[in-house]
Amino acid sequence: MEAWSPKIVAFLCTWCSYAGADLAGTGRNQYPPNIRVIRIPCSGRINPLYIIKALLEGADGVMVSGCHPGDCHYLVGNYYARRRFVVLKKLLTTAGIEADRVHFTWVSASEGARFADVVKEVTEKVTAMGPSTIVGAKHNQDSSGNNCPQNDSAAVILSDSEESYSFEEQQSELIPLCKKLLEGGTVSIIIGFQEGGEMGLSVPYFLNSPAEADKLVWNNRCVPNLSGYLCEVHSSPGEMSGKTAIIAKPCDARAVICLTKENQLKRDDVHIIGLTCDGMVDENGTALPACMNCKVRIPPVYDTLVSDGKQRDGSGTQGDGSPVLSAPQDCISAICQNNTEEPSPCVPEPPLCFERFASEMEKCILCFSCRQSCYGCYCKTCFVERGEPDWQTASPDIGTKMLYHLGRATHLSGRCVECGACENACASGVDIRYLIREVTNFIEETYDYQAGMDLATEPAMLSYKTDDPEIGFLGFENPNDNGCTGGDAGV
Ligand code: FES
Repeated sequence: MEAWSPKIVAFLCTWCSYAGADLAGTGRNQYPPNIRVIRIPCSGRINPLYIIKALLEGADGVMVSGCHPGDCHYLVGNYYARRRFVVLKKLLTTAGIEADRVHFTWVSASEGARFADVVKEVTEKVTAMGPSTIVGAKHNQDSSGNNCPQNDSAAVILSDSEESYSFEEQQSELIPLCKKLLEGGTVSIIIGFQEGGEMGLSVPYFLNSPAEADKLVWNNRCVPNLSGYLCEVHSSPGEMSGKTAIIAKPCDARAVICLTKENQLKRDDVHIIGLTCDGMVDENGTALPACMNCKVRIPPVYDTLVSDGKQRDGSGTQGDGSPVLSAPQDCISAICQNNTEEPSPCVPEPPLCFERFASEMEKCILCFSCRQSCYGCYCKTCFVERGEPDWQTASPDIGTKMLYHLGRATHLSGRCVECGACENACASGVDIRYLIREVTNFIEETYDYQAGMDLATEPAMLSYKTDDPEIGFLGFENPNDNGCTGGDAGV
């Protein structure tokens, strides 16, 4: 029987690495015949989805090579690509997908011998890992107890007493403020919350006259992120006259800033009424998981801030650039202190491993409610529904679900404001936010960027530094140990 040898998809930039491969051939530099080359105009043209798709379609490894930094034919394409590749590696590692099957490097047109060496090195590494087991992977319960435990957030009951939260005080300030904004013509529409949802939850409320403001509510059941409605209100230029005000939790305000940076909104069209937030609860009064990890309890940007019964006008920053009120310690600490129920909510995070990812994927029915509820998913046609290329199979299997969720995670890299709308909307209880949260934390640590905290800073994934670290590239040690004790990816 023929011995197994890996199939490796190699994306090569036509200007450098593809020419380097040519030179390896003409220079008779031998390398293993395992790569299948796809010629691309620039490493910056690589969509991380191509790499994910290759892995899910059965490639044992993927190699991407472009011009050396500083030598890109399009000047900066590889600088942007470098960040994308580093973040993709982090995402794959978080999902427990063997990120060491994916290799990034730079080879110039004059480096035929280096091209051959790179292919040899990649082939050896992938061969050592054995055949890919990503395709058709199933959740593998570990009878030794190493299977991923579920986060017991249901144990958390948030108090909405006046001593702990100032919702009522803020609401009493909010209503006259909204009347004043409408009466004075500062805004023509306000998007806020009113009562009337199922199980006591508040629902979005659009008002355009001062008399309607009395129905506004602000409580710990104002869960939806309202920022997406702003895009709809302003999607027909010419039909809107005047500004739209949004009653914004910190995550809503951050989303508005992101949408503004992404040219989906004009900052001048929006009046942000910022409110402090100690966390939201579901219909049972249980703390929402996203709120338990929230570190931003005061909107970082606003036009008017209603906080502790005091209104402040301004840009949202003091002279030193820090938030007007310094955010308290993690919300989870506050919740722990206020929690009167046992057991404690401070349960350890389940390990990051493939079993956890696969078990969440098995719950998914691809209803796309996570996408529909996400402020950041505003594409008219989602990638997963595009026919060219055909990302989705006719009978969606676990690979399609993985592709969708990993693809969505790459799209939200550096853009997620951690509002938790995706998991709140999921009827199947899929917890996939942890993937995006890990990537979000990584981007903050690596590129010093948090989405939606100010208008001035360029989004991490739309910018670069010439000396950005090449974490996970060939020749660099991979610092991302996923800590998984649950075995290999797949079965
Ligand atoms: Fe080669 Fe941009 S042209 S990486």
